[in-house]
Amino acid sequence: MEEKATRFEDLKPMLRPTGIVPGIIKVDPEKCTGCGMCVLNCPFKSMEMDEHKHPKMKDQHLCSSCFNCIAACPEDALSIVRTYDVKEGFFDTDTPPSKMPLAPKDADGEPTEWNTLERIVLERRSTRHYKKDPVPESLLLRVLEAGRFAPSGGNHQPWKFTVVTDPEFIAELEETMHGFWAQTYPLFNNDDTVMNMVETVETGVFDPRTQRGIQCIAKKILPVYFGGPAVIFMGAHPKLNNPALTIGICGQNMNLVANSLGLGVCWTNFGAVPINTMPELKSKLGFDEPWTVITALVTGYPKFKQSKMVPRHYRPVTWFGPRSKEPEIKT
Ligand SMILES: Cc1cc2nc3c(=O)[nH]c(=O)nc-3n(C[C@H](O)[C@H](O)[C@H](O)COP(=O)(O)O)c2cc1C
Repeated sequence: MEEKATRFEDLKPMLRPTGIVPGIIKVDPEKCTGCGMCVLNCPFKSMEMDEHKHPKMKDQHLCSSCFNCIAACPEDALSIVRTYDVKEGFFDTDTPPSKMPLAPKDADGEPTEWNTLERIVLERRSTRHYKKDPVPESLLLRVLEAGRFAPSGGNHQPWKFTVVTDPEFIAELEETMHGFWAQTYPLFNNDDTVMNMVETVETGVFDPRTQRGIQCIAKKILPVYFGGPAVIFMGAHPKLNNPALTIGICGQNMNLVANSLGLGVCWTNFGAVPINTMPELKSKLGFDEPWTVITALVTGYPKFKQSKMVPRHYRPVTWFGPRSKEPEIKT
């Protein structure tokens, strides 16, 4: 077992990260109509409208290069100047360049089209703006089935689902989660009190983007459930091995099937920690001990179209072909 840090100084490189180079997006003023969709769709609200009603990066921003701004722009008016990177310190993990998907080829190496599933995988973007319309129960059941039929080691199926579609309960949960993070964030930001938090909350590594997410929730810039009409909570039994990995696989099955049904989805992790510290709420949600809430998916009909391919990190692939003594590095 790894020893837990007991001094702030030991955790400082992680909790007060250095060397972060935020992404930068630029707008083509010829194409931009000033609709503001990019500003609206940025999770961390890194952009704002300038005096000419064109989007620009805010002074103090942390663009994480999710490119949801580009995905939401109906005019293709945005382009990437620089992608998020970390140049030194704890989170310097040799960020590779981002690339668009490679052009698809068929089994004979001839150019072809993406198939339906590939399109869903490549064009899926996280949806954070939903219509109020409820999701028909028939569709939610199909989404849940996609989760239930996910693979798991030895077929151990560690999951348990809870669906919430009551708007009042979702709004109540939103307030509770906001309250939790609004109280916790100042403690986390204070060098003296942060140690208590690190001891009580099972955090793992706090990536700077996660830290910014918590800050945005505390400031009510980023909602936890996005006012979505349905939330699917996923819990795991701790005696069933590797639940985080398996719940991830199960959730992504649901995510892709929901997208195939015309629904949008966003994973939402900022509810799990608070719920697991509130036994009454956890139990109300159907996760009595020893069940643990791992994560949740918000789903509903997207308010606007934002299914577009965007670039992603490309790390060179180490490839051992037949009879190869040395691997080929595919860049
Ligand atoms: C496990 C997991 C947890 C996530 N939690 C949140 C969250 O709490 N809030 C949020 O706005 N997005 C959350 N996301 C969405 C990511 O921010 C998003 O997948 C990433 O920025 C890439 O963008 P894309 O999904 O649009 O391609 C989460 C994604 C995953 C896989």
